[in-house]
Amino acid sequence: MESATPAEQQIPSPASAAGPALGTSQVVVPMPASRPPAPAAAEGAEFAPPANSGLHVAIISDGNGRWATSRGLPRSAGHRAGAETARRIIEAAPRLGIHTLTLFALSSANWKRPAAEVGGILRLLHEYLLSETEHCVQQGVRLSVIGRRDRVPSTLRQAIADSEAATAAGLRLHLRLAIDYSAREAIFHAACRFYKVTELSPESFSRVLAEVYRGGSTEVDLLIRTGGEQRLSDFLLWECAFAEFVFVPKAWPDFTVADLEAALEEFTHRERTRGALPDALAG
Ligand code: FPP
Repeated sequence: MESATPAEQQIPSPASAAGPALGTSQVVVPMPASRPPAPAAAEGAEFAPPANSGLHVAIISDGNGRWATSRGLPRSAGHRAGAETARRIIEAAPRLGIHTLTLFALSSANWKRPAAEVGGILRLLHEYLLSETEHCVQQGVRLSVIGRRDRVPSTLRQAIADSEAATAAGLRLHLRLAIDYSAREAIFHAACRFYKVTELSPESFSRVLAEVYRGGSTEVDLLIRTGGEQRLSDFLLWECAFAEFVFVPKAWPDFTVADLEAALEEFTHRERTRGALPDALAG
């Protein structure tokens, strides 16, 4: 894997980002100071899942940079706007029948970007965890991070562990954030461990894969990619074996809950045969 191992000191810590670390010349789309109160019915333990629930939707949230530059803004503004979109989509997901939502927040390949951009994304993710963990608890959202943890700043690593522990009882939505994630690397590491397993099967391999990057490894039902590109970019290669794909031309900051609903509507019209004959032809 191409990975210029980033020295931790090159990535300013979230504490030092309180000042001008995001760039004094940068336009910053602010996080909202407050949010509407969570509906009482959304409390985790009391949540009764809708009958059609259980979908695993994975999203490649692409187009932040182009969204920003097309507006004359720095790329960091696109990532910040993208975090707001993530917040809205996460909030809406459970009532749309989504039980697991995996968002591609930082690819392992993204280390090839300038250190300032990667550092900004890592700080944004840290801010996100600090500001959203309590809300996740209230909403019954269990948060997990999939990906490598050894290359992110130790402060972010700690925030990840704290968020995961605080939200562990969430039953309403399993939110998986992919940070420093590479599916190919995950599969490689799982293969390296697999020789110890005595029961050799795709299912047991899936279980080993789930352990590699933690956060489970469940089949993706619907993969959405925003931003106009139509590729998987090393995301959930094993889990997407039978996923339906929906590609959305608009950039991630412009992606709305209505767009998610439209993608889910399209998904319901796909016939998922997994290689078998469609119902109409089966005897
Ligand atoms: C893709 O846009 C986005 C990223 C590489 C990382 C940042 C992602 C987010 C902020 C969304 C998720 C956030 C949270 C908090 C869960 P790009 O920079 O590749 O866009 P481009 O293709 O236009 O350059």
